[in-house]
Amino acid sequence: MNIHTALKNGQSVLQNYNIKSAELDSEILMSKAISKDKKYIILNSNKPIKKSELDYFKILIQERAKNNPIAYLIKKKDFWKYEFTVNRNVLIPRPDSEVLVEVTLKLTKNRNNLRILDIGIGSGCILISILREKKNFIGTGIDISNKSLQISRINSHKLRVNNRLKLYKSNIDNFRTGKYDLILSNPPYIKKYDLKCLEKDISFEPKEALDGGYDGLSEIRKVIKKSSELIKRKGYLVLEIGSNQKNKVKKILQSKGFYIERVVKDLSNHERCIVSSKI
Ligand SMILES: C[S@@+](CC[C@H](N)C(=O)[O-])C[C@H]1O[C@@H](n2cnc3c(N)ncnc32)[C@H](O)[C@@H]1O
Repeated sequence: MNIHTALKNGQSVLQNYNIKSAELDSEILMSKAISKDKKYIILNSNKPIKKSELDYFKILIQERAKNNPIAYLIKKKDFWKYEFTVNRNVLIPRPDSEVLVEVTLKLTKNRNNLRILDIGIGSGCILISILREKKNFIGTGIDISNKSLQISRINSHKLRVNNRLKLYKSNIDNFRTGKYDLILSNPPYIKKYDLKCLEKDISFEPKEALDGGYDGLSEIRKVIKKSSELIKRKGYLVLEIGSNQKNKVKKILQSKGFYIERVVKDLSNHERCIVSSKI
């Protein structure tokens, strides 16, 4: 069988399972199966595909048909300007979270040697992107999940910021190390009840990265409380929120001595990020 025929077969399997991006996904998975880029596939579509590669391609297609996300199947995801390693132990970096990188870089434009804490670092996509842009910033990342810290460690080496990033396995409630100029967090903020109704792809992602308790705010409350203890005076807190959480989160922030600086919208025009500062 040649590459073209295998690709079309893959596409048709995915279409039968109602995968919306069947054509693109089949191409991406072929690229993974034969370890070649898209250009190679286009230019060599008449070449025969090796049996071992075809078998691997079929396995990937079967997994995608079950809604296993592409990022987990190819073990990487682009975020900001970089490619991050991911697996099923971490949330897949979302384009909407790039807002936190953008906002942080604007806030710290003329600042040097800042200490930044990322609460719930996951793959490391947000903090590592910032450390890449700001060569004299020092980062600390914490996560409740050891397995996700393994991935942020891999990414910190891959993107060569490991000498400026300390990682701790800790529940936010128990973390007491250091004082920070800026704290950022994309905490779990989906209501427990809503988790069941999300798109099928999301069911593959770790529950502890998504579950914000009964009102969606349980982890956000912890992050704000702990940040009020760990942040320096006039330090910034940059927080990702769900699209309908702005007013409630503003109140929690104000009750813990934060001044609301601004609310920033994401690519889909949802209010996605609240920037506040410690009075
Ligand atoms: C929404 S994910 C964000 C991951 C990454 N920062 C990103 O934006 O892609 C939330 C992360 O917080 C971690 N987490 C959840 N509850 C936590 C807690 N109580 N203390 C520390 N980390 C927690 C999860 O393991 C997960 O990695």
